[in-house]
Amino acid sequence: MKFFIDTANLEDIAQAYDMGILDGVTTNPSLMAKENIVGDQNIKNHYAKICEIVDDKVSAEVLSTDLEGMIKEGEELAAISPKIVVKIPMIKDGLKAIKHFASKGIRTNCTLIFSAGQALLAAKAGATYVSPFIGRLDDISQDGMLLIEEIKDIFDQYPELNTEILAASVRHSMHLLKCARVGADVATCPLGVFEALLNHPLTDKGLAAFIEAAKTMQEETELA
Ligand code: E4P
Repeated sequence: MKFFIDTANLEDIAQAYDMGILDGVTTNPSLMAKENIVGDQNIKNHYAKICEIVDDKVSAEVLSTDLEGMIKEGEELAAISPKIVVKIPMIKDGLKAIKHFASKGIRTNCTLIFSAGQALLAAKAGATYVSPFIGRLDDISQDGMLLIEEIKDIFDQYPELNTEILAASVRHSMHLLKCARVGADVATCPLGVFEALLNHPLTDKGLAAFIEAAKTMQEETELA
């Protein structure tokens, strides 16, 4: 399973990368705005900085919603670095754009997926990744995990689709663990979710006891 970090914050990206667990990054226009990254050139410069930190797979989202605009923007984003994956919204022109990029060998991430039918369409168009949003479904009292399971069941029937399930809107560690149990290819989440997986009070307690025991042994050896 691959782990992506869902942020445009350079420090968080560097921290997750330094943990040795990071396979990629996803961003979206809201996450870029949160970092005060506005304006075409600033956005491109910021993506270039992210690409300097990680090894591969940096999702950069187009802002246009018409085919011509998405193709122009996507090609400009892809030109920043071979690490860029062009993120395209799940709309009719988005499918056409995905098909276009697939024919050019440019990887795509189809975002804002809320049904298995949408995921299937994006996969048919040649998306490298489909991004079903778990947390936003949970927000409206629908079980986001069921969507991941449903897409997984369908994709497993057709391995020739060659599209990975990128579980998105992963808000907490249980989301991430459930994604791993059902076999999502990727989960993208904020740094805090990885940190929540890392920490356990019994680990802290056990480590403190080991350190204390070693110290006592050392003191006794010095006295003998
Ligand atoms: C996915 O690529 C999105 O950036 C993201 O996961 C959305 O998460 P949210 O619903 O917590 O905003």
